Amino acid sequence: MARDDNQVKTLLAAYEEEAEATGWFGPEVVFGLSYAYVQSNDLMLDIGIGTGLGSDLFRKAGLEIHGMDNSQQMLEACLSKGIKSLQLHDLRISPYPYKSFSYDHAVCTGVMNFYRDLSVIFKEGARLLKAGGLFAFVVGDRAENEPAEIVVGPEHTHTDEPVTMYRHSQEEISIWVENNHFRLMRSLPFTMFLDREQIRKVEAKAYVIRKL
Ligand SMILES: C[S@@+](CC[C@H](N)C(=O)[O-])C[C@H]1O[C@@H](n2cnc3c(N)ncnc32)[C@H](O)[C@@H]1O
Repeated sequence: MARDDNQVKTLLAAYEEEAEATGWFGPEVVFGLSYAYVQSNDLMLDIGIGTGLGSDLFRKAGLEIHGMDNSQQMLEACLSKGIKSLQLHDLRISPYPYKSFSYDHAVCTGVMNFYRDLSVIFKEGARLLKAGGLFAFVVGDRAENEPAEIVVGPEHTHTDEPVTMYRHSQEEISIWVENNHFRLMRSLPFTMFLDREQIRKVEAKAYVIRKL
């Protein structure tokens, strides 16, 4: 490992404590919506795995988790949790470093809100999944007539700069779903927060789609 174990564990604990403090329930929502359709020992790819939070509950349910992220630091945090099959790769770049039809399921939480154009994620998700596989993900949600971009101030981003986040309407998600031969199974709106005080809200939506 490039960083020492204590640094990695500190990063992992800090990230997951922040997620809990800000009421980030995306992983619980996608797991709850997907649970009836997955089996222990199924193989799941976590796209933008971070510290592994988005697939932790699936892992506890006995699925085998592989992960992809473009942050070496995050992958080291996953390694410290015992997730061994990890790839450093930018999810905007096709192809992802996996064979076609190699996964039973995929999950992507807390990531899609960083990007306006999600076409590569859906295209690659469709390529990697076996027929009947689930893709469970969370987006920032908006009505069709609301703007896609929201600018989040530095007070909420832990950086010196404001960050632009993107929200995706059900209509635009439906186009990616259909164009990539998925079928929408379930979706559920919920609220995420940008601050520990849980004052600044962003509406989110979890989707579970199935590869045809
Ligand atoms: C907010 S974290 C979410 C992590 C985890 N999925 C969760 O639900 O807690 C966003 C993750 O996406 C990763 N990420 C962002 N942009 C990415 C990209 N272009 N390619 C791969 N990973 C990316 C970040 O490195 C980070 O680990």
